Amino acid sequence: MKHPGLSIVALLSLLTVLTGCGKEQPVDEPQGGLQGGQEEAQVQDGKVLVACFSFTGTTKTAASTLTGLTEGTLYLIEPETPYGKENSTYYDESTRAYKEQYGPASTRPAIKKSLEEADGYDIVLLGFPIWYGKAPRVVFSFLDNYSFKGKTVIPFITSGSTGISSAASELKSTYPGINWKTGDRLNDKTSAQLKSWLESLGIKVKQK
Ligand SMILES: Cc1cc2nc3c(=O)[nH]c(=O)nc-3n(C[C@H](O)[C@H](O)[C@H](O)COP(=O)(O)O)c2cc1C
Repeated sequence: MKHPGLSIVALLSLLTVLTGCGKEQPVDEPQGGLQGGQEEAQVQDGKVLVACFSFTGTTKTAASTLTGLTEGTLYLIEPETPYGKENSTYYDESTRAYKEQYGPASTRPAIKKSLEEADGYDIVLLGFPIWYGKAPRVVFSFLDNYSFKGKTVIPFITSGSTGISSAASELKSTYPGINWKTGDRLNDKTSAQLKSWLESLGIKVKQK
């Protein structure tokens, strides 16, 4: 006797072959990998959080544009005690910024904890200025406070001239459970350039 379920299975198999679905889809690939087209497609429609620490406003400008383009949520990482203007003086050993950046790697300045439903985001764009070659320690405080384990996090920076690689490597090695993607330095990027950057990462641009 013909089993009615068999024809459905056969139909589904045929559809899979015809559409290519299920082909080259690595089972254990981390969510949202951006090395190939298949993985990029996974992150395109995700809910975007743009989390940003900014001391003098440069990184915040890029973060705001990215938030608009993705129709995401902008969250400003704020230290409980704000950094005073004196921290702008580079290589002044008496400043808090200097002490934190050159102190133990485990330094975690307290931050305000006001991000709600942090686990509801699929993609996190994480912005910060480079401080003495690295990410400011408040960025680590943020990552300690909200677990983004298994989530796609893409760092972006602004700086005087330093690139992102050292900061990104330290973040990667400190939080290996996060699905880190290669980030970029976004000083002085136009909205059109930021749009292209997002698209290159497979992130859907919703606002034209
Ligand atoms: C404490 C401190 C350390 C900095 N260290 C670096 C650095 O190592 N390399 C660099 O290129 N810029 C450095 N800068 C410059 C900032 O990264 C740059 O001005 C950045 O765009 C500021 O971003 P913001 O306005 O969002 O705070 C430093 C700035 C400060 C205040």
